Amino acid sequence: MRKTPTWADVTPKAQFLRRREVLAGALAVGLAGPAAARIDARPSPLSTEAKPNTYEQITSYNNFYEFGWDKDDPKAHAGRMTTDPWSVEIGGLVERPGSYALEDVLRMAPLEERIYHFRCVEAWSMVIPWIGLPLSAVLDRAGVRPGAKFVAFETLYRPSEMPGTGIDWPYVEGLRLDEARHPLTILASGLYGEALPKQNGAPLRLVVPWKYGFKSIKSIVKITLTEDMPPTSWNRLQPSEYGFYANVNPAVDHPRWSQATERVIGAGLLAARVPTQPFNGYADQVAGLYQGMDLRTFY
Ligand code: MTE
Repeated sequence: MRKTPTWADVTPKAQFLRRREVLAGALAVGLAGPAAARIDARPSPLSTEAKPNTYEQITSYNNFYEFGWDKDDPKAHAGRMTTDPWSVEIGGLVERPGSYALEDVLRMAPLEERIYHFRCVEAWSMVIPWIGLPLSAVLDRAGVRPGAKFVAFETLYRPSEMPGTGIDWPYVEGLRLDEARHPLTILASGLYGEALPKQNGAPLRLVVPWKYGFKSIKSIVKITLTEDMPPTSWNRLQPSEYGFYANVNPAVDHPRWSQATERVIGAGLLAARVPTQPFNGYADQVAGLYQGMDLRTFY
């Protein structure tokens, strides 16, 4: 794990740091202990008690196909992505559409209670201590208009900095409005008390812990409220394999592999796979969103 900066490390530099770094740094101070009275940041009650993966594991085994198809490509190549300045265009069915500077988005929710230890699962699983804010705070600030039923997201696409091929860029994703408003749905801007590394989707990415990892779109530049279900990259690429919902469901196999178990990153190569939990263990909180829906049809 990375060393968490102390108050002394952070304070003198603070004046020179951009606001986003101050935000991440302030949270790191909160985590450090003695200065916690100043920024009272502690893991959200929504957090899992499971031990987080190491900073090294979380930042060196990634999927970010704009930078290549191998798990080590994002760490090797995402460094060339320019993330400063950054703004997010919020539009569609909202009262206050516009281009919001990253710094303003990060201020849309209070600094307290921004640490979320969430499990994430794909064919493998990790526990990641995110720094983020509820997506609902951002939606409230933009003012969702009646008639909006979905939220569409879009990743930066800048071919000069992104060598990856094979997907019809930009990467796009979507959520139903009630999923987007659920308190487990966050926009993450950091992890382990530091600003988000580029390979993990700097400077702002979605985290939806009860869905397969591909829903958690990285490096977001656009959020649009829509009446119709928006397209999603994986559904466009392979509709028989990837649906819009993508809720973690061990009972529904991917057409080419079982989804009943997962490999726990960090448990060692010889460790047995463990059973995957419905909704990645968050069923108590989110199963109600899908009452009455056949999750085999709406996969
Ligand atoms: N977002 C973009 N823009 N491009 C991607 O290729 N990959 C997705 C998701 N978000 C992806 C993306 C997939 S398949 C996964 S599993 C997660 O990011 C991985 O997030 P992590 O590397 O931070 O663990």
